[in-house]
Amino acid sequence: MSTTVQKIKERLGIIDVIGSYIDIEKSGSNFKAKCPFHHEKTPSFYISPERQSYYCFGCGVKGDIFTFVQEFEGVDFVASLKMLADRAGVEIEKFEKNGVKTERELYEVLEDATKFFQNNLKNNNEALLYIKKRNLSIESLRTWRLGLALDDWRSLKEYLSSLGYSHKEMLDAGLIKENEKGESYDRFRDRIMFPIFDTAGRVIAFSGRIIHPSESEAKYLNSPDTVLFDKSKTLYGYNIAKSAIRINQSVVLVEGQMDLLMSHQAGQTNTVASSGTSLTSEHLAMLRRLTDTLVIAYDADNAGRSATVRAWKLALKEGFVVKVAFLPQGLDPADAVSKDPNIWIYAVKNAQNIIDYFIENMKGEGDRTQADKTLKEKVLPLIKSVQSAIDRSRFLQKVSFVSGISEAALVEELNSIKDEDVSPRDIPLPNKNHRPVMPSAIKYYVFLSSKDKQKADEFR
Ligand code: CTP
Ligand code: MN
Repeated sequence: MSTTVQKIKERLGIIDVIGSYIDIEKSGSNFKAKCPFHHEKTPSFYISPERQSYYCFGCGVKGDIFTFVQEFEGVDFVASLKMLADRAGVEIEKFEKNGVKTERELYEVLEDATKFFQNNLKNNNEALLYIKKRNLSIESLRTWRLGLALDDWRSLKEYLSSLGYSHKEMLDAGLIKENEKGESYDRFRDRIMFPIFDTAGRVIAFSGRIIHPSESEAKYLNSPDTVLFDKSKTLYGYNIAKSAIRINQSVVLVEGQMDLLMSHQAGQTNTVASSGTSLTSEHLAMLRRLTDTLVIAYDADNAGRSATVRAWKLALKEGFVVKVAFLPQGLDPADAVSKDPNIWIYAVKNAQNIIDYFIENMKGEGDRTQADKTLKEKVLPLIKSVQSAIDRSRFLQKVSFVSGISEAALVEELNSIKDEDVSPRDIPLPNKNHRPVMPSAIKYYVFLSSKDKQKADEFR
């Protein structure tokens, strides 16, 4: 590894690398810039070509091209190595693990599969109509490289064979499966294909949504974990959302692929998806490098609510300020945007800190016993799971103010809590006051023809 790092550093100067991200200006033998890692009006971020390092006199960040890319892109060391290696044209040492094919070859076969799926979609009216029905725009299709797996057992396999890929490569990439008789066939069939990208934007896996729903087939099917893909460490949309997350200083978390696409389409580009509800602390750690504010926007159904509780506790432990976006009952973000983007934007904008939400609710509870119960069973367990002592104290002060109970008594009560569990039904449903105002016109279309486009333009 270290020789690779060395080679990359020899080929890429720090001035070129940092200069490609931010505006820099010469200052003596060094360069200076406004620090990209904290807000400032006059430059205190210095780059030394001689030492190949940077240092900010304002916030103290320092490092080399690798740490810069990690911090700026919000990626880990390995990803920064990949990005800079690509740029420098340096091959990262290949590895063969139990005969598993090298990373590079797997990227290539996945890239070719992506193109194959994209091409299928372009030529399939039924699938395009489905996309149109879901109000996805052509821009979204392109940005997220959506495709189509045909309703056919071996079309991808045959295509990839014709390009010279081996059976083993396709298997290792998770694209084909084998039955007991040793026959192999395409893993994804009759599905809209969503490529899943790594932090550097390379395709590492797929998620496929069934087009013709059937009892025996799952609605969504994902690639298995492979050398390149680890579901517990991959957030859908992260590669594109990361800069908006950093700029907005908040991240919106949704469940599904469709939710993510529609959220970005509505302009909420700081959104990532956990692809289902199994959010991990690794996911959160990736996000935490970019921001400390998390807005959870899981589906407004029972499964979504119970996942919200889990996610929110996990996120509090990672040191996030957690908010929850309330959608009208039964809707997910994709439905909301499809109905009207304003519903979604409104919900995100009005996301509330969950603890504040409960505290506010307590105020409204006229019945003393009921308020005490809410306090004990809901609010204090939540406050207990807040990691920062300062934040805990802030919440306790608030509760004390609202309830008239002394902080000392609250602390004592807090210390006696063992079970932090809050059951899903404790998540409040949005009541009438939280329902977004119904909106103006829908502005999002899939343009299948220029006539459609013209119609849409007239509409605007
Ligand atoms: N999911 C999955 N496997 C399943 C079902 C769901 O991996 N069998 C993940 C997918 O990433 C999916 C997300 O969970 O995008 C949300 O699932 P769900 O809410 O069931 O999907 P919908 O939002 O209803 O999907 P659609 O809008 O396409 O109907
Ligand atoms: Mn959903």
